Order: sequence, then structure tokens, then C-alpha cells
Amino acid sequence: MNAAGGGVLSITGLFKEYRSGEPVLKNINLEIEASGVTAIIGPSGTGKSTLIRCINRLVDPTAGHIIFRGEDLSQLKGKALREARCHIGMVFQEYNLVERLTVIENVLCGKLGRLPIWRPLLRKFSDQDITRAFDLIDSVGLSQEFASRRADALSGGQRQRVGIARALMQEPSLILADEPTSSLDPKTSVEIMELLDQVSREREVPVIVNIHNVDLARRFASRIIGMSAGQVVFDGPPDALQDTHLNEIYGGEDWQA
Ligand SMILES: Nc1ncnc2c1ncn2[C@@H]1O[C@H](COP(=O)(O)OP(=O)(O)OP(=O)(O)O)[C@@H](O)[C@H]1O
Ligand SMILES: [Mg+2]
Repeated sequence: MNAAGGGVLSITGLFKEYRSGEPVLKNINLEIEASGVTAIIGPSGTGKSTLIRCINRLVDPTAGHIIFRGEDLSQLKGKALREARCHIGMVFQEYNLVERLTVIENVLCGKLGRLPIWRPLLRKFSDQDITRAFDLIDSVGLSQEFASRRADALSGGQRQRVGIARALMQEPSLILADEPTSSLDPKTSVEIMELLDQVSREREVPVIVNIHNVDLARRFASRIIGMSAGQVVFDGPPDALQDTHLNEIYGGEDWQA
């Protein structure tokens, strides 16, 4: 809870239409509290990525409000929008690292949104930032020898750890992760979800994760949001998620057999 008594993120009456008259998100209302992993599950095409993209404003909502740090993200433009985005860390399915840069350089990239635009990419970071980047590399479970390795020499799991460290470098008030484990093997997926859960609790930053793996969602999320056809049809703790809910979310029953 913040000083105003609400969550970190408050979404009300959110609609998104890519084509007029064909809403992809239909009246989403969500309050996201200060820490914990919220997993969004639902079938392909149901609007999970669209919801994340509305929050970081990669797409413009058609209607509704997205209140984050006291500002309505749905109304922001230009500099104000860029500034607000600095407080949102993004973690991607395909990591989105700069392949030819080293791990430490990639982590420091998390700082770039906050530097004046004319500042050259590297060498200009403060000692404090560099120390912080090393600490983050350590805290996501990579040994310091990884710092000087190029991103293109890392495994998927290692890359995703760098992606998480880069997001943390921003000192985000919110982390959004769109299918962060979909390119990883089952064991590494568990490790990455474990890390996101740990980061969320230790740093008190809420994490919203789109995820197809319901078991991982149950295991690591404190809250599950089930979407179907652009609407929230389940919202509760993992224990409350029953097979009847899964049938409603994914439709039919045969798929669970
Ligand atoms: N840029 C776009 N222009 C037009 N339609 C889009 C665009 N992006 C997404 N859509 C449509 O919006 C709907 C929701 O897509 P979205 O990517 O949000 O689903 P999703 O739940 O993330 O699916 P998945 O689990 O496959 O990632 C789909 O019907 C999709 O075709
Ligand atoms: Mg998606």
C-alpha cells in the first residue's frame, strides 16, 4: 500500500480495440499491491500481452485509466511518458539483450532511461552505478566472472538473469514480464520464476507475469488472474484456482486429460 492507501498500480475500466468495434480487452479492473508476483494466465490471443503493453504504453488504451505512482499512464505523452516508463522494468521472453555488449554493459543499460540523452553509452557511468550493476549481477545468481562476458555467449537462463538485473538497475516500482520462461527448459523456468518471486519480496516491487504454465503460476505467484476473451474471469490466490476455473479460462475440459 502506498501513502494514498491504494496499490502501486490501479487499472479501471480498461478497454483496448486494435480495430474499431472489436475490443481485445473488455473492462479490465485491477489493483496491484506493493509486492508479490501476479501471474496472468489465459489462452493464446486472450489479451495478456495487450494488457502488459497498455501498462507500459507500447499500445494506447482505447478507454479507461491506469494509475501508476499517482499519474494516469493512459494520458501521458512525450517526456512525461518516458519518465514514467523509467519506473517500469521490463523482462522479455527473448531477453532483448544487446548481444555484442557484455553482461555488465547490458545491466547498465537499465540506467539509460535516466541519463541525459547526449551521454555516450559506456564509460560514463558513475562508480556508484557500476558497483550497483556488479551487485545486481551477483544478486540474480551470476558469478562476477560473467560481468565481462558478451551476452551472445550466455545460455537462455543466464540471459534472463541479466534481463532481470537490467530491469532492477532501473530501481523500478513495477516489473512487467511477458512470458519470461517460454524460451527456457523446465528446470531453468523454475529457477527464473523463483528469482522473480524472490526479487519481488526482497525489494518490495510488484511483478506482473504473463505465463502459459499454470503449474509455475500456482507455485510462484501469490495471486493469479485468469483471463478469457479479454476479460478477467478469475482473480485470487493459487489455492482458490480450481479445475472449474481452468475450464472457464481455457474453455472445454478435454485439454486437461
Ligand atoms: N498490433 C496488433 N494489431 C491488431 N491486432 C492485434 C495486435 N496485437 C494483438 N492483436 C490481437 O489482439 C488479440 C490479443 O492478442 P495478445 O497478443 O494480447 O494475446 P495473448 O493473450 O498475449 O496471446 P499469447 O498467449 O499467444 O501471447 C489477438 O486477437 C491478436 O490478434
Ligand atoms: Mg502474449
